[in-house]
This record gives sequence, structure tokens and C-alpha cells, in this order.
Amino acid sequence: MDAIRIRGNGPLRGTVRVSGAKNAALPILCATLLSDGASRLRNVPALRDIETTAALLRFLGRGVDVEAPIVDVAAGADVKPEAPYELVKQMRASVLVLGPLVARFGRAKVSLPGGCQIGARPIDQHLKGLEALGCRIHIERGYVIAEGPGGGGRLKGNEIYFDIPTVTGTENLMMAAALAKGRSTLVNCAREPEVEELGRVLNKMGAEVEGAGTDVIHIRGTERGELGPFDHAIIADRIEAGTYMVAAAIAEGGDVVLEGANLDDMEALVVKMRAAGVEVASEGQNVRVHRPGPLRAVNVTTAPHPGFPTDMQAQFLVLMCTARGESVISETIFENRFMHVPELQRMGASVALRGNTAVVQGVDKLYGASVMATDLRASASLVVAGLVAEDETEVRRVYHIDRGYEHIEQKLRSVGAKIERVRGAEA
Ligand code: EPZ
Repeated sequence: MDAIRIRGNGPLRGTVRVSGAKNAALPILCATLLSDGASRLRNVPALRDIETTAALLRFLGRGVDVEAPIVDVAAGADVKPEAPYELVKQMRASVLVLGPLVARFGRAKVSLPGGCQIGARPIDQHLKGLEALGCRIHIERGYVIAEGPGGGGRLKGNEIYFDIPTVTGTENLMMAAALAKGRSTLVNCAREPEVEELGRVLNKMGAEVEGAGTDVIHIRGTERGELGPFDHAIIADRIEAGTYMVAAAIAEGGDVVLEGANLDDMEALVVKMRAAGVEVASEGQNVRVHRPGPLRAVNVTTAPHPGFPTDMQAQFLVLMCTARGESVISETIFENRFMHVPELQRMGASVALRGNTAVVQGVDKLYGASVMATDLRASASLVVAGLVAEDETEVRRVYHIDRGYEHIEQKLRSVGAKIERVRGAEA
């Protein structure tokens, strides 16, 4: 298994290009199932989750050619609407094929994803929404079996109320409602930029989606077979950009330009970065991040968009480890998303965990250690910690990072980090 070795060596300086958004690309790849035509997706990052989605689409019967940053999905209507456990267990977002499959083919059999390291992550809201559209759902031997009305008929538009805003749940239901008969109204939707982006693509395909990116989405369904293919370049990855924003600020004097980052999608993070004493400014199509002096401690509570993203909690917590004073970081989205904390303690951080809250006392210095994490953002946060830690930090099990950060070592090296990948390191 690969590891990443970092030697802390002071501030980063230079320019990093932000890649396309993983969490926008995944639902959009699944949306290709709504049309029988050939679609092209541009600005796709070279990531393991993209390969996993491509493998899933191929399993279903579509030809997929991944040549990052371009992914082509070939035309084809001969689809076997079944997503096996072997693929779904590798990536929970595979559940995003459920809505499009049952809407387009009247039937879908998709493995239940099960829990993951950051929490139980149920999909009850996805299933309840599909039932509201007339699906009959039952669970059989770990699989969700969904059938359109009357044993495979067209879904019927309806009002769907989400008990909590769910990103992939909103996306699944938007795709299903796009082919349902009549109008659907989705209430209490997730407002993430990736949801808005899916709305844009569905409209390009000929769907009528209004309000994506707000908490109420109206969709007028289109006949099966009437949604066309698309050619679309996806938005910049706000979480990758945010991670490099924190990396730029982790050492005093850091000065990094994030090429293609979109500040409009990152407001909550930017407010907290500025409160901590970091300068963040738009410069044309880019964003400049500069840390002129010591960091101030600030408190953060994660919340659905436009609140502070749970996907930036680990990285921001690392930033607070060497800030002056005490910061309180609360995680409200996932119940087990502090796995980076024990690893950071091994690097000399002073963090006390109390339920869903971490209390961080800033220390003068972090020390390099051998660390590992069991999810994507936690692993990235440890790499960021390594940038300022004394001596060498080895982050193990970096396959998590490869799910969500394109060429992370090259990008960090290009702004001055001493970082290398060690192939086949001890797990
Ligand atoms: C998406 O996951 C992202 N994944 C996650 O990105 C991100 O952390 C998360 O949204 C929150 O922003 C993709 O977009 C592919 P949710 P998702 O449904 O959709 C509960 C990363 O690192 N819930 O919005 O699975 C759930 O347990 C990641 O890139 C239900 O109770 O998250 C959680 O507490 C990991 N029932 C909350 O809602 C449901 O049916 C929000 O989860 C669905 C969700």
C-alpha cells in the first residue's frame, strides 16, 4: 500500500490549479443513464471514485472511456439495471444509480451501501422519496429492489419532503423525478453547489428543473426516451480548493494562488479563514491565499450548505492546532468524523474530544510521526499537518486520498512542499 512522506519545511508559495469537483462528477456520470445517447463530461479529475463509477456504468452495460479530464459515455439502451455489492461497497455514491435506473428502466436492484467509517449513513430518505414517486421498494438479501408502478411502469410526480437535507438523496430524487409523469416538488433539499450543477446538466438534457441549489426544487417530468445526451464541463472542486487554502495558511508567510477556485461556493470557509487571520482574495478567475502572521483561534460548527462543510472540518481542525488560543470544533453531520484527532495527538496536537465536539488548544509546534486515517478528508488533513510538523511525517493508507485528490503530491510539490509517495509501503 502506498504512503506519503512529508518533511515540514515552511510556507508554501506559488500556484495550484484546482481540479473538477468529484462530488459533482459522480451524480452527473450517473445521470447519463437517463438518456440513451452518448454524453461527454469535461474537467473530470483523475480519481479512483471516477474509475469506480466508470466500472459501475460498464457493468450496467454502457461503454465508458475515461481519459481525464474527459469522460465519454457511449450510446446504448441495453442496460441491466443491477449494481452489485462488490462495486457499491467500494464507493457509497454508487447508490446514485438507483434513481436514474428505476426511472428509465422501471426496475433497479442496487446493493445497500452499509455503514462507513464516518457514520451509519442510512439511505432511508432516498427510498422514502422513491416510494412517493410510486415505486415499490423492498430489501432482499442486502439489496434494494425498486419497481415502478404496476411492476415497472413510469414513476408519477409527487411532493417529496426530506426530513433532513441530503446531498445524494436530493440528487437521486431529482434524476428520478426528471422522467416521472407530471410535476414533482422536492422540499427541504440539500443546497450544495453540486446539486445545483446536476440541475444544470439535467436541463441541458431537456429536463425542466427549477430551483436546484435552493431548498425547494420543482421538476416537470419528461417521457422516457426523451432526455438527450449532454456535453458539460464540471465546476471546480470547492473541497479540494479549501484543502489547499488551509495548506497555504498552515505556515506563516504562505502565499498561494488557487487557479480556478470559486469563492462563491466557499463562503463559510472563507469567513472562518479570515477570522483566523488569513487573507483570502479573488483575483480574476483565481483566489489568492496569504497568511501574514500568527493564526487566531476560531470556533466552527459544521452544517449543510451554505454552512461550514463537514468535508472541511478535519483540515480546519489541523489549522487550529497551531493557532493562538482555544477553538471549539463541532461536527453535526456525521457521528464519527474525528478519526484524525488521535493521529494529530500523536503529532503533538492538544485536542480534547467530547462527543461531537473537539476542543483544540493551539500549540507552538507539531512533530512528525507515522500516522494513518480511514477516510478521505481525515487523510488529507494529516498531509496538511505534515507540512508544518518538525521532521518527517508518514501518512499511511493513502488510497483514501487517491479517491478525492488528484495528483496531491505533484500539486503540493509545485508550491514548495517536500513530499513524496512511497510505493508499496507497510499498511
Ligand atoms: C455527500 O454525501 C458527499 N458525497 C459527502 O462527501 C459529504 O460529506 C456529504 O454529502 C455531506 O456534505 C457525495 O456527494 C458523493 P448526506 P451523502 O446524505 O449525500 C443523513 C467526501 O469526503 N442521512 O447529505 O451521503 C446522513 O447520515 C464525502 O467527499 C440520513 O439520515 O451525505 C448524514 O448525517 C464523504 N438518511 C446527513 O444525512 C438518508 O437517507 C447528510 O448526509 C440520507 C442521509
